[in-house]
Amino acid sequence: MTLGKTLFSQSEIQRRVGELAAQISLDYKGSDLLAVCVLKGACMFFADLIRMIDLQLITIEFIALKSYIKDTSSGDVRLLYDTLDDIKGRDVLIIEDIIDTGLTIQKTIDIIKGKSPNTLKICALLNKRPQGGTQNVRRKIDVTIDYIGFNIPDKFVVGYGLDYQEMYRNLSEIRILDI
Ligand code: IMP
Ligand code: MG
Repeated sequence: MTLGKTLFSQSEIQRRVGELAAQISLDYKGSDLLAVCVLKGACMFFADLIRMIDLQLITIEFIALKSYIKDTSSGDVRLLYDTLDDIKGRDVLIIEDIIDTGLTIQKTIDIIKGKSPNTLKICALLNKRPQGGTQNVRRKIDVTIDYIGFNIPDKFVVGYGLDYQEMYRNLSEIRILDI
């Protein structure tokens, strides 16, 4: 298992995060946005994104879920903890690191929907999807992702918050892990 090719450098990530933030700022103009960070993987993306969002009324909350064992989704997504008290009637944007099978994001959506938000959208930095447009074969849930940073090939990636067995989260760039 070794660190492989850099998929996105620090500057490429920052540029794309800026574009997403600009779009979100436009779309949520006049509403009071509640941004929910899905821990731990989205921590870096979340911190960068919300600092680039140009809105006065933005509040933040956190949710922590776990599904992966080593490099494979276990299929069993567990809620570890959350700070989601004040969701009712809010315009909620879930900020996630990466969507693979879709199970983690679906669980997050279910939890938040159960708390009656006004609107609910998804923002994911990475979306695993084969090049050429056909569906990811592991995708189990047909979830609509409202904001996507990058579509990536079906490879295991680490860095910028994403881990392999809790390692590599602190890399500034996103790299492929050769397993
Ligand atoms: P899903 O539930 O299969 O969609 O996977 C989503 C979760 O698994 C993400 O929130 C990540 O934490 C983790 N994950 C999926 N693919 C990768 C990867 O390539 N590298 C690191 N973590 C991943
Ligand atoms: Mg995650």
